[in-house]
Amino acid sequence: MKKNVSVGIFADVAALTSEAGSHFIRVAQDAVAKRGVFTVALSGGSTPKSLYTSMATNKSLRAAIPWSNTHFFFGDERHVPPDGPDSNFRMVNEAMLQRLPPGWTHIHRILGELADAAEAALRYEAEMRDFFETHGLVEEGFPRFDLIFLGLGPEGHTASLFPESLALQEARRWAVANWVAKLKTDRITLTFPVLNNAREVVLLVTGSAKAQIVVDVLERTATAPKYPVQSVKPSSGTEHWMLDKAAASQLSEVNA
Ligand code: 6PG
Repeated sequence: MKKNVSVGIFADVAALTSEAGSHFIRVAQDAVAKRGVFTVALSGGSTPKSLYTSMATNKSLRAAIPWSNTHFFFGDERHVPPDGPDSNFRMVNEAMLQRLPPGWTHIHRILGELADAAEAALRYEAEMRDFFETHGLVEEGFPRFDLIFLGLGPEGHTASLFPESLALQEARRWAVANWVAKLKTDRITLTFPVLNNAREVVLLVTGSAKAQIVVDVLERTATAPKYPVQSVKPSSGTEHWMLDKAAASQLSEVNA
């Protein structure tokens, strides 16, 4: 098993979503009690959508989230407008934000609509710097997020840190534009130093299509790292994988 990693396995997506919501509340309430604010970076893709919906629609979840002290950031964004079909912001907006009263919480959006993805990354980094420095939440030169949600792509990418892309090597910037040759498009993404500076990283992975890569990453660690997600190693934080049974189906008994 990958070192310093905890794994939770759930019967189905509904059970995983329920526990992820409870976990979100625990982390959020603890952060606000200790530091007055809760900083979280949301992942995109399809997996987390049901979680975001439940946060706004499940009565007990909605009532327990400290919305006015919560600052939502994004782990990555596509190079598209916020109402574009592929936009991660659009997914979060439709699933959660549109269901909340205006001004109820704080959103730090990546400006995917800008013609220059590098400019979008620079502005996002400037907004993060302003917020984290103002709140005294910069440690070791990087923002210390309370929680970062991540997903896992079919070829082992996470956020928009894709295999063989330049952003994999970024060691100084907090956010960068990243050309993804496979998709023939730019993305904007947090960098590994930011992911690995978080207090907690939670990977939400569901479906049998991810089972092979899950077992490769979590159990076949003898081989040299070959997937970007294997570079997620919080230096002074926790790494927690939340899997449904389908995604965990190839793990050995001891870890299943
Ligand atoms: C994105 C995500 C990306 C995603 C994985 C898994 O912008 O697409 O940030 O890292 O988490 O690709 O996506 P699914 O949840 O759709 O499988």
